[in-house]
Amino acid sequence: MNLGSKFIPLDKSIHDRDLFDCGEKELNLFLKTKVAKHMKVGISNTLVIASDTLLENRKHPISAFYIVTPSLIERKTLPAPLAKKLPHYPVPVFLIAQLAVDKKYQGKKLGQITLIKALEFLWAINQQMPAYAVVVDCLNEVVEKFYAKFGFEVLDTVNEKVKMYIPMKTVGELF
Ligand SMILES: CC(C)(COP(=O)(O)OP(=O)(O)OC[C@H]1O[C@@H](n2cnc3c(N)ncnc32)[C@H](O)[C@@H]1OP(=O)(O)O)[C@@H](O)C(=O)NCCC(=O)NCCS
Repeated sequence: MNLGSKFIPLDKSIHDRDLFDCGEKELNLFLKTKVAKHMKVGISNTLVIASDTLLENRKHPISAFYIVTPSLIERKTLPAPLAKKLPHYPVPVFLIAQLAVDKKYQGKKLGQITLIKALEFLWAINQQMPAYAVVVDCLNEVVEKFYAKFGFEVLDTVNEKVKMYIPMKTVGELF
């Protein structure tokens, strides 16, 4: 069961969404029921990597996916030394809206690869349309630990979810 060589936009005629299971029901359901609609109306794009296994429905199972979107944060949520350089109105950032790996592949560095691909994609966009940081709303402590490994720091807690961030400058040092 090999993986495709790169992340590509979700294509309902090629990618099977029904078998995807990352262990988080909410995320599985979102992939199955919402992302294709969101792509159709033009509010987000979903990038997937699929296995080369061909299912009976002639589709390939999704192994991991991510969705990134533009977003805004309040300057006051940032640490004072960073905040003082920024304007008083909301600051543009990129949001990792969703990022998940199928359970069959978890613990094998596919999460790391997916995150790096998402950051690489955002770094390229940042060259044309800059944003201050990349932020993510963590579903739980496990996810917080995952992002902390890659240099994300806690920004705020919103609706009981910890929001983490990494400055775009730090992302740039990776590429
Ligand atoms: C969180 C998630 C994306 C991690 O993907 P993964 O493929 O299992 O992670 P990787 O194998 O790439 O691990 C990368 C690093 O993160 C660490 N990590 C991964 N899961 C971890 C956990 N549960 N606790 C602590 N560290 C963890 C790994 O130890 C590894 O670090 P190392 O190189 O020092 O060993 C995946 O578990 C997932 O999809 N979870 C469910 C969906 C979800 O909650 N998504 C986030 C929405 S905000």
